[in-house]
Amino acid sequence: MAGLVDEAKAARERAYAPYSGYQVGAAIEDESGRIHAGCNVENISYGATTCAERGAIARMIADGGREIRRVAVVTTDGGSPCGICLQSILEFAPDPNMVEIELFAGDEPSGLYTLAQLMPRAFVSNTVRRAGH
Ligand code: THU
Repeated sequence: MAGLVDEAKAARERAYAPYSGYQVGAAIEDESGRIHAGCNVENISYGATTCAERGAIARMIADGGREIRRVAVVTTDGGSPCGICLQSILEFAPDPNMVEIELFAGDEPSGLYTLAQLMPRAFVSNTVRRAGH
């Protein structure tokens, strides 16, 4: 996880969180081993805020990655990704049992989980055709 965590920490340093003061950094390793990092970007209209994890996903997609293998998330207290971010990670997770999500409180590891553990009864619908990855 070393490179991945370092990228998440560096992104967290660049977080824009003047309203909550809660800075988050996330980094994703894709199917090619490439790393894509993101941070939270808040807005004075709070609902326009984007989370670090979804920022990293946007960068992965724009860079041509399509499958999430590992995720590192760094906060001050080891917080887990929110529900919207877990659902967004799931979108690009071919097997939720194989996607690792490691949480950090600053420099300290605070838990290693699979996506399936964090989303035991995730919403997946076979009534909606998913866009080709
Ligand atoms: N936040 C994230 O970046 N990721 C999450 O999964 C949960 C919450 C951000 C959004 C907001 O800027 C701050 O943390 C406090 O909620």
